[in-house]
Amino acid sequence: MERIAISKGVFDTSSTFKVETKKEGNVKMAVYGYFIGQIHLMLRLLVLIMSCLTVVCNFLLRLWLTRWVNAQQLLGSSTAEFSFYASVYCALAVANTVVDSATDIFFRMVQYLIGTRLHRKLIQSLFRAPMDFFNLHPTGIILNRLSSDTSTADLGTTLSVANFITDAVQMVGSLLFISGSCLPTLVFLLPACVGYAAAQLLYVAPSRDLDRLMSKARSPTVSIFKEAMSGAPFIRAAGLQQMFENECGHRTINELRPLYMFLFIQETSAIIMDTLGVVVLFAVTFFTGRGAIKGSLPAGVAAISITYAQQICMKMMWFVRQATSIEVNMVGIERLREFSELTPELWEGVVEQAPPPRWPQAGTVRFENVTVHYKGATGEPALKNVTFALESGQHLGIIGRTGSGKSTLAKVLFRIVMPTAGRVLLDGVDTAYPPLTRLRRSMAMVAQDPTLFEGTVRENLDLLGCFSDVAIWDALRRAHAHNIVTERLRGLEGAITGSGDQLSVGEKQLLCIARAFLCKAQVVVFDEASSSVDAHIGKLIHQSISRNNDANSSTTPVTRASSTSDGISSSFLDHPTVLIIAHRLSSINACDTILVLDSGQVRETGSPQALLQSSGSVFANMMAANAL
Ligand SMILES: Nc1ncnc2c1ncn2[C@@H]1O[C@H](COP(=O)(O)OP(=O)(O)OP(=O)(O)O)[C@@H](O)[C@H]1O
Ligand SMILES: [Mg+2]
Repeated sequence: MERIAISKGVFDTSSTFKVETKKEGNVKMAVYGYFIGQIHLMLRLLVLIMSCLTVVCNFLLRLWLTRWVNAQQLLGSSTAEFSFYASVYCALAVANTVVDSATDIFFRMVQYLIGTRLHRKLIQSLFRAPMDFFNLHPTGIILNRLSSDTSTADLGTTLSVANFITDAVQMVGSLLFISGSCLPTLVFLLPACVGYAAAQLLYVAPSRDLDRLMSKARSPTVSIFKEAMSGAPFIRAAGLQQMFENECGHRTINELRPLYMFLFIQETSAIIMDTLGVVVLFAVTFFTGRGAIKGSLPAGVAAISITYAQQICMKMMWFVRQATSIEVNMVGIERLREFSELTPELWEGVVEQAPPPRWPQAGTVRFENVTVHYKGATGEPALKNVTFALESGQHLGIIGRTGSGKSTLAKVLFRIVMPTAGRVLLDGVDTAYPPLTRLRRSMAMVAQDPTLFEGTVRENLDLLGCFSDVAIWDALRRAHAHNIVTERLRGLEGAITGSGDQLSVGEKQLLCIARAFLCKAQVVVFDEASSSVDAHIGKLIHQSISRNNDANSSTTPVTRASSTSDGISSSFLDHPTVLIIAHRLSSINACDTILVLDSGQVRETGSPQALLQSSGSVFANMMAANAL
């Protein structure tokens, strides 16, 4: 439902989202290079050798048949001769079948290898892409690349290339044989080849562009189906079924339009090719037949020439389609490549600026003149020159109007969004440089939208599987979520379906809060974490967050393994530094510092007591209004 302006009754084409673009012209050679580069040079050579071997075996079989026929014409039939020619023919036929089958199996293996590599690269690239990428690209575009384009790469491209090579070798062989046997046929063969090449050129360009159009037109259809499925209750409630039905129909027709054009071009080219084929067949039959009648050409050779000519007629069209299909399939590879070579987040960090081995330990946070401008967004920055500092274990309450930049501030801390200017320091280290895993594992966030996924309760809470049952139950108790797990989800091994569809938003929030409590991070951010739970539970949770509660915790905090392979610090603070983004003022009363954001700027900051006493303070006014 993300882009549908219901009130206007139209589908929004918001400028923030990228509409899928269609590339123009020939597929670049670099795309072919990218595709071929997926397999080792030796395998590439082997593809060529196997293709040639198939053609040579086939040719030898026919040649032997010719010799056999000629020998029989000259020598008459003797049993010894017959056995000799028949045995060699059988041996060649078996060799032909074996080579054909081996080539087929080999091509399938290469197809599997290339498909797997392309898919792996795409997945790796998408998982390491910055969040901006997902903000800018609607799900339909990404799903289209992962489904339709991947399937083209898996099923079509490799076999098209392999068959093209085999056909090309076979065509050249056939043409050489025919023209070598009967030179005058060249008068017709050469212009026919030029005609085939011209037809191919006429066919390839529109087919390629139409395929691009088809791929581009598929994304909006995928998007609207996904939106309609996820928003079905809202669509029904608003009575917008007809509007969605019309839009689905409209997008499906748009998707099919290029397909009809494609079929039209395919049929037209088939007629041209067939006509050329008839000319070739006529010429070869005429000249070789005349040679055979005159006795200047052995009858067997004439027969094989005519068979090859028939083959050229049938295969040429297939050959041209293979060539086109390669170009068309390469469009899919071009699209996969585009998403497989995204600039990743700074995953490994900057090695020269690597933080100390046990960083971070204290959990001090410092924002220095941080400004954030979202990619693709126009207008004012989401954060402007935000500066504040938090000592180890301090609690900061962040308030502000909707859209004032509270969640953006949390995202900057996690390097989900990079500051356009300024810097964020965690224990004195600029968060722009450490390896992402180290940075993010040292912090926990309960986001505004609670996120659970398909799996057991344990998997949802303890993502890396490194906490004991005691620790998990302790975290659940502190989040007041233990009753949900015992009564609704049947314990830690109970299943969470979908993205927690069987739970209310408030219940999901409580489980996410338990997850944050469990990971014992140095810095914890609660972004409207309890906005959907009732005031009583909300109060209890904020008591849990407060420092005194740790001492009352029923179990000793469990720490992770002393040192992990990526050097994550093993010592966890009993009292993390906490940032609480809240609408309910009661939940931030006990914080050490309050930060009021207004249109991305720090409007005021200070202790709750100091702000309450200061005249004209926004916080004091809000508290007063709240009391009313
Ligand atoms: N991905 C994005 N791309 C472009 N602009 C964005 C993006 N996310 C947020 N913004 C804009 O940045 C500004 C701050 O958004 P943010 O989500 O930080 O507000 P917030 O204070 O958390 O609001 P709320 O109280 O509603 O959660 C808003 O104007 C918003 O429209
Ligand atoms: Mg927010």
